[in-house]
Amino acid sequence: MTKIDTGIASIGLHLPPLAMPVEELASLRGVDPDKYRIGLGCSEISLCPPEFSIVDLASEAARRALSRWEGDLDDIGMIAVGTETAVDMSRPLSAFVADELGLAGSIRSYEVKHACYGGTLALRQACEWRMSGAARDKAALVVAADIALYEQGDPGEPTQGAGAVAFVVERPEIASVGVESHAWSQPAFDFYRPVGEAYPRVDGKLSLECYKKAAQECFSALTRGENPADVLEQFSAICFHVPFPKMVKKAFHLVGEVAGWTAERIEQIYNDKVEPAMRWNQLSGNSYTASLWIAVAHALQGLKAGEQVAAFSYGSGFGSEILSLIAGPRAKDAEWAQDIERDVSRRARVNASGYNLLRAAVRTAAA
Ligand code: CAA
Repeated sequence: MTKIDTGIASIGLHLPPLAMPVEELASLRGVDPDKYRIGLGCSEISLCPPEFSIVDLASEAARRALSRWEGDLDDIGMIAVGTETAVDMSRPLSAFVADELGLAGSIRSYEVKHACYGGTLALRQACEWRMSGAARDKAALVVAADIALYEQGDPGEPTQGAGAVAFVVERPEIASVGVESHAWSQPAFDFYRPVGEAYPRVDGKLSLECYKKAAQECFSALTRGENPADVLEQFSAICFHVPFPKMVKKAFHLVGEVAGWTAERIEQIYNDKVEPAMRWNQLSGNSYTASLWIAVAHALQGLKAGEQVAAFSYGSGFGSEILSLIAGPRAKDAEWAQDIERDVSRRARVNASGYNLLRAAVRTAAA
């Protein structure tokens, strides 16, 4: 993999102030909690109170990333926000976040939409902007943020969640992003939200097939011409977009079968390199654009410089891409871990009746 002099200089993470264990939702829906816990692999659902918006979520992650970076706002030449929780059809979420941060001037500011793939696109565009020389040594602020809510009673409800990740893209102190990546897209209506509708329309079974097809194509491209096992084993962690953890397990099993591994080998590599990266995702629930990058942030913690991480991004519709990252000298410090620890320790627990009240309040606020 080509080593390049651009990548992630700092990371900020943010989870909203409420959370509900999936067991509470199971009691409300009259479902065996093991369906959610074991069948889907879910644990907690991050939730936002009605007065807490996507702008709050995204801006706080951005503030945290900026606070750990040596530069200042004058050194930022781009702000790109990946989201599918847009608040306006014209004004980009980046403008709302820039307002909060006091960021204005000679800056390219825009929102990226491609379902859960939007954050990855924003990050790649920022890296490519730096690599091209167009950045003239300026840094980019990249944010991936979403609040994932399904209609009440929808099969996707136990997978709900929210979260935000922000990166300053500049010198690769935490990780460089490899210049080679492998994309695969194929138009489909697996998950989409028509203009004006509050909740996504989901063809659940089709979405699983699209995700698996995307994973198979991206991993095949990554390993083409080489022994797949040799390529995959060089990664310290293999991260996926996490709509729910069982989806990742199913997709990784398929990748392993294509690589020619036995079932035991697949299980062992899944346990060593895939499953551990999803610990924070189990606390956030699905956070759409942020989901993969929460897993990557977890995986980068404590890595020695030079260790590698694979990142598979999937966005319904569908588009996907696999990227490689190489840990830099400050990955070992893992300063961003305190963001999750602090948010999780401070957030309030919601029970089943509190969830009903919250959904009613969110509906009223949206009306
Ligand atoms: N104990 C243990 N396991 C149980 C169980 C029990 N009592 N009852 C059921 N299960 C298991 C089932 O056997 C099944 O496991 P397998 O798939 O391994 O067989 C699992 O629980 C789920 O059961 P169902 O398939 O019956 O679940 P469902 O149809 O009610 O809902 C879903 C599943 C369709 C994925 C739904 O959660 C959904 O629509 N989710 C949103 C869409 C989604 O996340 N798609 C993923 C790809 S798209 C994407 O990645 C973009 C994105 O972020 C949304």
